[in-house]
Amino acid sequence: MIKIVYDINVYREALNEIIKADDVVLELGCHVGNSTRIISQLTPKGKVIALDKSPESPERLKSLMDDHENIEFLNKDVRLHTTLEDVLKKIKSCDVLSIDLGGGYHPDTTFKVFFIWSSTLKPRDTLIRNRGLLDFVQSSSFDEVIKSGEGWLESSGNDGIPPRLKELKLWSTRL
Ligand SMILES: C[S@@+](CC[C@H](N)C(=O)[O-])C[C@H]1O[C@@H](n2cnc3c(N)ncnc32)[C@H](O)[C@@H]1O
Repeated sequence: MIKIVYDINVYREALNEIIKADDVVLELGCHVGNSTRIISQLTPKGKVIALDKSPESPERLKSLMDDHENIEFLNKDVRLHTTLEDVLKKIKSCDVLSIDLGGGYHPDTTFKVFFIWSSTLKPRDTLIRNRGLLDFVQSSSFDEVIKSGEGWLESSGNDGIPPRLKELKLWSTRL
């Protein structure tokens, strides 16, 4: 399932609904770990790998990791191919992918990060917090049905993964 939300309370309610006790959760955009703490408690037999490029994150995540042994934090930019490679050395797949990169209304970075990370890690469920994507989907009408049941767009299969990774590598480091 892919779920798109905007309100932070709806985001955290959705985490609560989606995450199971032994899930491996990948959280892209953890900031200072306020949702990471919730995720950690929801998956006591699993783990959460949390990423954020902010300089505000390391100290707060370190203190969170001292109290929650199932959290691992990486202070990295999720647009970079090397970051995806680093995560792939730790996990080959994940159960839940949770993406909250902020950026207000603009959905393009969030969608590209979703597409590349979810195609690679093939999560059961993906939760995306982004206002622009929510507006786009709810304001669109459709004459055809193309749907995927997992947390990634599996209807497009594995076609084209090398070009997608190349694109990620060339992507601007600025939002
Ligand atoms: C709205 S905050 C996340 C809030 C957090 N999910 C929560 O529930 O408290 C967005 C975060 O995304 C991070 N972010 C934005 N672009 C990023 C990128 N390319 N790589 C890693 N982190 C990024 C920002 O540093 C910021 O901390």
